[in-house]
Order: sequence, then C-alpha cells, then structure tokens
Amino acid sequence: MIISGKELSTKLKAEMAEEVAGFPAKYGRVPHLVVVLVGDDPASHSYVRGKAKASEVVGIKNTTILKPDTITEEELLALISGLNADDTVDGILVQLPLPGHINESRIINAISKEKDVDGFHPLNVAALWMKQPCIVSCTPKGIIRMLEAAGVEIKGKRAVVIGRSQIVGLPVAKLLLDRNATVTICHSKTVDLPSITRQAEILVVAIGRPRFVTGDMVSEGTVVIDVGVNRDPETGKLCGDVDFDAVEPKASVITPVPGGVGPMTICCLMENTIECFLRRSS
Ligand code: GUN
Repeated sequence: MIISGKELSTKLKAEMAEEVAGFPAKYGRVPHLVVVLVGDDPASHSYVRGKAKASEVVGIKNTTILKPDTITEEELLALISGLNADDTVDGILVQLPLPGHINESRIINAISKEKDVDGFHPLNVAALWMKQPCIVSCTPKGIIRMLEAAGVEIKGKRAVVIGRSQIVGLPVAKLLLDRNATVTICHSKTVDLPSITRQAEILVVAIGRPRFVTGDMVSEGTVVIDVGVNRDPETGKLCGDVDFDAVEPKASVITPVPGGVGPMTICCLMENTIECFLRRSS
C-alpha cells in the first residue's frame, strides 16, 4: 500500500477549514501565522509558498515577511521580538536554513514558545522528552498521522530511524517510543546498517541522501516512511532517501516522494497554528 500524504493532508485540511470557519463567531478572528524568510534560496521560497497556500485552504491568515540575506542577527531578533509582542499573531515560523552569519539557535530561542509552531524551541523540545504538553514539530507529527491513517500498529514493533537530526530523527524516535515501539536510531557512524534496517518492522528514513535505502536493506512486510527530499543527481527530479522502485514491492506500506511526508508536514503546521491560536484564545 502506498500512503498518499497528499490525499490525507487534503482531507485533514478540509476538516480544519470547517473548524476554522467557526472561529470568527466564537473568537472574533481566525488564527494568524507569520512566516519569515531570509534570502533567496529557491527551495525555501517554494516551501514558504506551500505554507501560504495551505493557510489559504484552511482559512488561516498568513503573512510572509521576506528579508534580504544582508539582514543582521540583531535586526532579525528585533523583528521576532515585535511578532512575539503582537497579540494578533498566533504562530511564528522562521524558515531554515538561515544565512551563515546568523546564529540559528539564537533565533529559534527568541521565538516565544507559545507561538513556536515549528516546535523547535528548547522548551518545547524539553517538554516533548519529558512527556509534557508541547508543540510537536510538524514532520514527526505528520509521520505519526500517516502511520495511524494507514492502520499501522506501533505498539511492540521494532522501529528503526535512520538519521538523528533535531528536526526529524530525534523527535520521531521519541514519538514512536511514546507509542511503545522498540526504537533504534541509526546514523553515519552506525556499523553494518543493513543488518539493523532488515530487522525493522517500521523504518523511518531521514538521512538526506538520494535513494540511500536499497531493496536489500528492507525485509518483506516493512512499513517504510521516506522523509527525504532530494534531487536525483542524474535526472534532476525530486526523489526520496529510499529507492522506491526497489523497496515498494517488499514494503507492506510505503510513502512516496513527492506527495508523502512533505504535504503532511505542512498540514501539521496548520494544526500547530490552530493549536497555538486556541491556547491563546481560551
Ligand atoms: N526548513 C526545512 N524544513 C523546515 C521546517 O520544518 N521548519 C522550518 N522553519 N524551516 C525548515
């Protein structure tokens, strides 16, 4: 079975749109997401456009603030401080990566944790690891939504996560652990990776290398979640971290690239924006 993140996100966004339509009567306004984009990286611009489009579908007010890559760290911090203080703003997202002269941690730490729709603030990350109420970052949350929608039981399963990033690998491992999977996190220094991935019943791949996971690395019946967004070095087309054609016949469930995890990430950003709005409104 191929899980379409595109279809699932369309359905979830339609449900959110219905909910948001009732907000003006109840709360006097709709949620407001502010996206800050520094520089002119084409991929970042494309992601930010996707966020604006999804906001429109759901009925969330979206403001995208574009800044040149000559902006200083102090100027960006001042911008965030203004957004933190602005009561009409519910969610703040600073698109990453930032130019080299700006310290990303300082920027993330400056966003009010109540408006941190990315769930990247240290206090949200700490709360996740302490099983306390928090904003869960969008990609890991989207992955769990997809597994649930596909009817995959997580409890008791051997889950293997390839990649240990703060944004995907670590939080998705924690979410799987919280759902009682037995989780192994693999990375660039892992010895004999295929012997570990072959034991996986659920395999999440977030390593950022085109078609890294080959057919021989996966056992029959594995649930495969591909988080990769890469350009195929030969064709220039988008491709995942998993060699889809080789792995799909063995997998019981698999996500495509594009149209898999990506749309679910944006969908969960909408969810997080609504969540921040509701916490601030009630
Ligand atoms: N760049 C790539 N993915 C993300 C994300 O999830 N959030 C932000 N802010 N920037 C990103």
